[in-house]
Amino acid sequence: MSSPFKKAQSPASEPKSPKGKEKSPMPAPTSPVGDESSEPVGLLSGAHWGQQVQEVDEDNDLTLGSDTESSTASISSSILHYRNVLGRTYHSDSVTDTEYWGPNDAKANELLDIMHAAMVMLFDGKLYTSPLDEKEIENAIDIGTGTGLWAIDFADDHPNCNVIGTDISPIQPTWLPPNACFEINDATKEWTYQENYFDFIHIRWLTGVIKDWDSLYKEAYRCCKPGGWIEQLDCDAENLCFDGTMPNDSAMAQWGPIWKEVGRKTGLEFNVVSSNTMEKGLKNAGFTNIISEDYYV
Ligand SMILES: C[S@@+](CC[C@H](N)C(=O)[O-])C[C@H]1O[C@@H](n2cnc3c(N)ncnc32)[C@H](O)[C@@H]1O
Repeated sequence: MSSPFKKAQSPASEPKSPKGKEKSPMPAPTSPVGDESSEPVGLLSGAHWGQQVQEVDEDNDLTLGSDTESSTASISSSILHYRNVLGRTYHSDSVTDTEYWGPNDAKANELLDIMHAAMVMLFDGKLYTSPLDEKEIENAIDIGTGTGLWAIDFADDHPNCNVIGTDISPIQPTWLPPNACFEINDATKEWTYQENYFDFIHIRWLTGVIKDWDSLYKEAYRCCKPGGWIEQLDCDAENLCFDGTMPNDSAMAQWGPIWKEVGRKTGLEFNVVSSNTMEKGLKNAGFTNIISEDYYV
């Protein structure tokens, strides 16, 4: 089974030095095998799942880690007043009026950490593929940083670069490299950063998170230095199967239809790859030399 991830990247304008090295794209994706049993089905009713054996996670700790509790110097305590819905916690209303559907409890954060490890493995230990001038970059930002592992690793690798990670949930650790910091900031609002400031803007796994991608890319363009780079790694909320072994009524197969329905109800886009949202949005914002690559995991 496979889920398509796509990476789009682009310098804000023509690079100052010839760093816009063309990369050879991955081989074109092949179509899934059209076996009848693997044809997608619509959304199954809730009763289908009632018949499945539910495993209850006794260890699911919904309390915040001590890192967050002790981080009172720069944040108001109201941002720790998480909303509690059906046993899961969600970002505080006091941070923003933007609604994000993903939980921010221990279980959700562990998933982010696992996905970070998986993505680093996918790229053979690399954190990005843009042709950055490693010695020259001064300012980088990770939008919607989650538990912040990408930002921390990037800061460790680039000790002369200031790295900011932003999110609407304070779920990041407080033990950081000296050149890294986290800010509670809604990426869908006007960015608070100066024009032409960042050498590198990184976005990962925000499919279904951002309602107005065009506005976000415009803010990114405004804040990206001429010659700087933006890189986004994202996926569609859909599992594909190439050999016909994914049963139609399995949770893996239903994942796509469920999120499609969520998208229909919320107006959020869960198919940023297949709809070319990244390429179109980056181009509309003014970015040039856009490189797009597909990866299968
Ligand atoms: C699926 S996670 C991805 C986290 C991280 N980029 C990674 O790759 O591990 C999406 C993250 O976006 C954050 N988020 C949601 N809406 C946001 C917004 N409007 N501004 C900034 N971050 C947001 C969530 O809190 C969550 O941490």
